[in-house]
Amino acid sequence: MSVVVVAIDGPSGSGKSSTSRAVAEHFGWAYLDTGAMYRAVAWAWLGSGIPLEDADAIVAMVRRTPLRITTDPAAPGIAVDGTDVSTAIRDPRVSAEVSKVSSIQGVRDELIARQRALIAAADGGIVVEGRDITTVVAPDADVRILLVADPGARVARRAAELGARATGAEVTDQVIRRDRDDSRVTTFTEAAAGVTVIDSTYDDLPTVVGRVVALVEQTLAEEH
Ligand code: DC
Repeated sequence: MSVVVVAIDGPSGSGKSSTSRAVAEHFGWAYLDTGAMYRAVAWAWLGSGIPLEDADAIVAMVRRTPLRITTDPAAPGIAVDGTDVSTAIRDPRVSAEVSKVSSIQGVRDELIARQRALIAAADGGIVVEGRDITTVVAPDADVRILLVADPGARVARRAAELGARATGAEVTDQVIRRDRDDSRVTTFTEAAAGVTVIDSTYDDLPTVVGRVVALVEQTLAEEH
């Protein structure tokens, strides 16, 4: 049987990660956080001393950097060349710098190839979340969703998530400025044809998860 692929894109604070993990757990499927991969290479770049202007050197570094990402939704984690960076990649410093690295096309090409390989290796099903999954990484996914929410709701969610680890200005930067920078290289503010938009502004997590699960079940029933 072929693998069921559920692709979920959306801006930061839209509830993408929590929703994707819960949906994967519901179906007993794998979960792939592509943002964690961009964060991990940003972490590696920050420690490398390579100037941002030297895009070729950054791409070369990314190509030779081994990433190990766990696709178990109950215990997601990521390691860079054997070092567990699951916590370090959530640091506000990484959040503030990640868009610089993720906007380099050669970096994207390398990570997209690795993401496609991880999807192809999945067993049963996989929920993949990011900014360009419905459009570039897996445009043929069985279910394609754009998860959106008003900016106010997204900033409030990120603030609750980060608590004392980030100032109000850092949270706003992480959500509003980062989305603006990210949307220069990926199209996640408007749904492509065939992509279902789910607005989570006024809904809690179980409600959103329920809507995604229902959509997946409906699609699978239609495919059979
Ligand atoms: O989802 P996140 O906030 O952890 O993503 C971190 C960064 O990675 C985000 O600022 C943009 C980038 N990203 C991307 O360009 N394409 C993806 N598929 C996922 C993330």
